[in-house]
Amino acid sequence: MKILKIKIESVKFSLITAIAFLTAGACLYGCREEEKPHVHPLTHHWEKAVPLQKVPKGLASLRAKDCGACHVTHYEEWKISTHAQAWNDLQFQAELKKESSPYLCINCHIPLQNQQEFIVTGLIDGDIYKPVKKKNRHFDPELKKEGITCAGCHVRNNTIIGPTGSPNAPHEVVKDTVHLSEQLCISCHNASAVVTPELVCSFETGDEWRSGPYYGEQNCLNCHMVDTVREIVAGYGKRLSHLHYFPGSGIPKFDTLKAVGLNGLEIFPPGIKEKYPANDSLAIEFKIKNEHAGHRLPTGDPERFFLITFELKDETGEVVATKEERIGERWEWWPVAKKIADNNLNPKEERTYTFTWKPLGTGNYTLRISVTRHRLNEESAQYNKLGDHYPLFNTVYEGQFIINIVGNS
Ligand code: HEC
Ligand code: HEC
Ligand code: HEC
Ligand code: HEC
Ligand code: HEC
Repeated sequence: MKILKIKIESVKFSLITAIAFLTAGACLYGCREEEKPHVHPLTHHWEKAVPLQKVPKGLASLRAKDCGACHVTHYEEWKISTHAQAWNDLQFQAELKKESSPYLCINCHIPLQNQQEFIVTGLIDGDIYKPVKKKNRHFDPELKKEGITCAGCHVRNNTIIGPTGSPNAPHEVVKDTVHLSEQLCISCHNASAVVTPELVCSFETGDEWRSGPYYGEQNCLNCHMVDTVREIVAGYGKRLSHLHYFPGSGIPKFDTLKAVGLNGLEIFPPGIKEKYPANDSLAIEFKIKNEHAGHRLPTGDPERFFLITFELKDETGEVVATKEERIGERWEWWPVAKKIADNNLNPKEERTYTFTWKPLGTGNYTLRISVTRHRLNEESAQYNKLGDHYPLFNTVYEGQFIINIVGNS
């Protein structure tokens, strides 16, 4: 998520602190009712954590590692998912440290109250920068590191929830197909709110899916948690199960991690003629389509984009022409966060990009076309000091074509 870097923040902060101290001092000598800060209850779901959970009967802890003692494959899949990185992620940590990041950032990244050091009970004057906090005695720092852990999705009302309520488990299980549906995904993957003028949550994967052609046909789970038949615990017999890789962009969160991804784009390489005349401009059409994603592409974080790069080289290897096209959103974050452009591809949308060039001489030229998928740009990565081990993009497509330019005779 993009957060504005407000330079004057620290000044504002110390002013507010000074005022707060003054008011607190004055209040010692009797405050009238209307001068007391008014504590607002938490209203939006992302302002709250999932309430504290006791360890379900039959289990020793809520930790993924411990679930993994029996659910070996689920654990191995989840462990390399981006969900398992939702806390450790360098970019998340960098943004969380900024004063402009309110307490509520953590509610979708470490969703269980058990993962959070403080319990937030309300907001002073409804201000998200002034949460009323108390220490959480049940805080588990190990569970926090697991990010969106098994229990974040599977433990509610102090019990495991599952798709069938299997009677074979050594732990309590309650069947809950309402919670374990696309609604669970949408509860985090759809937030569109102006938190403050400079801080806007803007990712609408759920809305994009609802208003697109896949609605009623295929949901988040069908594509991101594919069905399989297997044992979910060794020795218990095969049953319907779902892969837990949660594949997405496939751009890993660190260069030592591997990530499983999906590909949404269908690429139509250009039809290249045998020869092109030297005096005409040539126009090479490159078509791409959002064939497989149930939402727009890119989706989610507004900093994501795709680049389509054309590069033409002559026989000596010298670059004679280039062109770059970008698919993504553009935002202005100051003074008020505002989306200024958005050419994301809708589901099933097809788009043609044309590379034009006027040849000056004859000969063989090589046209390289690539499509790359980017998590964020170099500038933001540097600003956030993400270092050299934070992969910023991956390659979707690469093609090379020989363009033969001939004389007119
Ligand atoms: C001691 C072994 C063991 C541990 C530890 C364990 N489970 Fe299970 N779990 C099982 C068995 C056995 C089943 C039933 C297998 C079957 O139905 O084929 C099961 C079933 C499930 C189901 C499917 C329920 C359904 O509705 O079909 C879920 C979900 C689940 N466990 C989640 C978890 C989570 C999350 C953890 C960790 C917090 C965990 N389990 C820890 C053994 C274990
Ligand atoms: C508790 C909130 C939460 C829930 C519930 C949740 N997600 Fe996520 N998801 C996240 C966050 C946060 C990230 C990004 C973590 C990061 O980048 O550090 C993420 C990342 C992903 C990614 C990877 C994006 C990429 O980088 O390519 C996919 C795919 C995904 N989620 C799909 C799902 C699906 C499908 C469901 C429902 C079964 C789901 N999520 C449920 C919060 C959630
Ligand atoms: C018809 C299949 C399909 C459905 C339905 C679907 N997705 Fe996706 N999703 C994809 C594919 C394919 C990609 C990989 C896109 C790419 O090439 O980067 C993807 C990518 C993502 C990403 C990574 C973001 C990015 O820009 O790379 C997230 C997050 C995500 N999906 C979440 C969801 C959620 C949440 C839902 C339900 C509201 C959902 N998806 C529904 C197929 C689907
Ligand atoms: C982002 C949410 C999410 C996380 C994290 C998650 N699960 Fe699940 N899990 C689901 C959903 C949703 C289903 C049900 C899928 C269905 O039935 O359509 C499910 C199903 C299961 C099942 C039933 C069998 C199956 O494969 O359908 C087991 C067992 C299970 N999960 C174990 C785990 C374990 C163990 C972890 C952690 C290592 C974990 N899950 C992490 C969402 C999650
Ligand atoms: C409503 C739930 C929610 C809240 C609240 C939330 N996030 Fe996220 N965050 C997500 C989801 C979902 C993703 C994954 C988006 C995607 O991949 O499409 C994500 C991804 C991220 C990423 C990784 C972006 C990338 O491209 O990989 C960062 C960094 C981040 N969030 C920071 C923050 C900060 C800072 C805050 C507080 C201002 C915050 N988040 C609050 C749900 C949330």
